[in-house]
Amino acid sequence: MTRSHLCLLCLLLSLVNLAASQDDATIMQSLKSTLHLTPDVDWSNPDRCKWVVFQCDGSNRVTRIQLKQKGISGTLPPDLQKLSELIVLEFFSNKITGPVPDLSGLTRLQRLNLHDNLFDSTPKNLFSGMNSLQEAYLDNNPFASWEIPETVKEATSLKNLSLVNCNLVGSIPDFFSSHTLSSLVSLKLSRNNMQGGLPASIGASSLQQLYLNGQNLSGSISVLQNMTSLVEVDLQANAFSGPIPDLSGLQSLRLFNVRENQLTGLVPPSFTGLKSLTVVNLTNNCFQGPTPLFENSVAVDVIANTNSFCLDTPGTPCDPRVEALLSVAESFGYPVKLAKSWKGNDPCGGSWLGISCSVSNEVTVVDLERQELTGTISPSFAKLTSLETINLSNNQLTGSIPKELTSLPRLRTLDVSNNDIHGDVPKFSASVSVVTTGNVNIGPVSPTGWKSFRNRI
Ligand SMILES: *[C@@H]1O[C@H](CO)[C@@H](O)[C@H](O)[C@H]1NC(C)=O
Ligand SMILES: *[C@@H]1O[C@H](CO)[C@@H](O)[C@H](O)[C@H]1NC(C)=O
Ligand SMILES: *[C@@H]1O[C@H](CO)[C@@H](O)[C@H](O)[C@H]1NC(C)=O
Ligand SMILES: *[C@@H]1O[C@H](CO)[C@@H](O)[C@H](O)[C@H]1NC(C)=O
Ligand SMILES: *[C@@H]1O[C@H](CO)[C@@H](O)[C@H](O)[C@H]1NC(C)=O
Repeated sequence: MTRSHLCLLCLLLSLVNLAASQDDATIMQSLKSTLHLTPDVDWSNPDRCKWVVFQCDGSNRVTRIQLKQKGISGTLPPDLQKLSELIVLEFFSNKITGPVPDLSGLTRLQRLNLHDNLFDSTPKNLFSGMNSLQEAYLDNNPFASWEIPETVKEATSLKNLSLVNCNLVGSIPDFFSSHTLSSLVSLKLSRNNMQGGLPASIGASSLQQLYLNGQNLSGSISVLQNMTSLVEVDLQANAFSGPIPDLSGLQSLRLFNVRENQLTGLVPPSFTGLKSLTVVNLTNNCFQGPTPLFENSVAVDVIANTNSFCLDTPGTPCDPRVEALLSVAESFGYPVKLAKSWKGNDPCGGSWLGISCSVSNEVTVVDLERQELTGTISPSFAKLTSLETINLSNNQLTGSIPKELTSLPRLRTLDVSNNDIHGDVPKFSASVSVVTTGNVNIGPVSPTGWKSFRNRI
């Protein structure tokens, strides 16, 4: 290449740059005309790089627009994405209306901050191609109801994503795992109208903050067990159910707010013993067993009577009958129906669903037929040595009949008909009537694992 060729190349390059920078000028002019600027925003200087809210790079390309908390109304121009050198775009706390325009050309953008405005929609290809984006805050905008689009997963550098109170519907997508968004540490989706459960994929994330409060989410929270980076989790005011999983791996957990859900079961020692905890909110659930006892340093919000604890004094063990019945309920996955009914420390008080007692307050009957029970039959039935009748018919129970039940000295009736129980029926004494009809897989299993011929016909 000759010297003159080189010069030509330089000239061409600087022309390209000049053209791009003039493009920027055009877009800034259109931005100036679509926004209704307030008097304190002075865009009168002919050199836009001197406008206080902008920053330009060495080639006069716009790199930052920070127009926040100015009371500005108006709309954003559709070609804003041509400001392709933008690194920071902030318009938060204004009154900007209209759509959030297509921003997919902003491949260098690291921070997008549009929260607290009056935007009415988001682009279908939200964050498409924006692989430098690290932080995005779109909270508190009256968007028409929308779902988190698949294109969000193209923002592979995303660390903080906040979409609070902005009319989200649909379910939590399955790309919030470190396989897809490996840098994501904070996800805030509070106060929307999302439904469905926590996807298993979120368990494989490095999230430190997870805020999902104030929605209509349901199902188990067992996936939290795998989220060992969590520092703050807020699930308040949803419809989550089932027990708190083993959280002993969450050694950095500080805030745990599950107020106003339908969580059940015992508050496990693996959770109460976490040294990192500072704030715990458990009010208005159906937690059972002893009222949990936390370290003094933990601010706990467990108002008496808003759960199904056996006694009000933290750490006091329950009556042995209650303990045995709770371990029976554990094998059914602590169903909400039982948790709402099995409250307090006296199963013989008359109000416990399916429980009858003798005059001497011993549990004689557990009658839980047709209660939509799932799970298995607990060997802990054997701890209720006064039992005469167990009726678990017409549920969806699996597993087999525990042999421990044969030790119950007063048992007369065991009815497990119409479930999905399998395996051999243990040998009960002749005085026990065992009803197993309606369990297609029940019966002896041959050494090869196949059921005997007799039971297959
Ligand atoms: C981003 O997420 C981190 C990690 O959870 C958090 O500490 C930080 O406060 C978040 N930043 C903002 C602006 O919310
Ligand atoms: C919550 O979701 C359930 C379905 O999961 C639906 O039947 C119910 O209407 C929803 N409630 C609200 C308040 O949106
Ligand atoms: C936790 O992660 C492991 C390994 O990926 C997985 O097999 C297991 O099902 C997860 N547990 C929960 C409760 O999601
Ligand atoms: C959670 O509990 C703490 C400690 O009692 C309390 O200060 C806080 O207000 C509670 N948070 C909510 C959202 O109820
Ligand atoms: C158990 O309950 C069923 C109803 O689900 C009832 O038909 C059956 O008679 C009961 N079994 C016994 C042994 O009483």
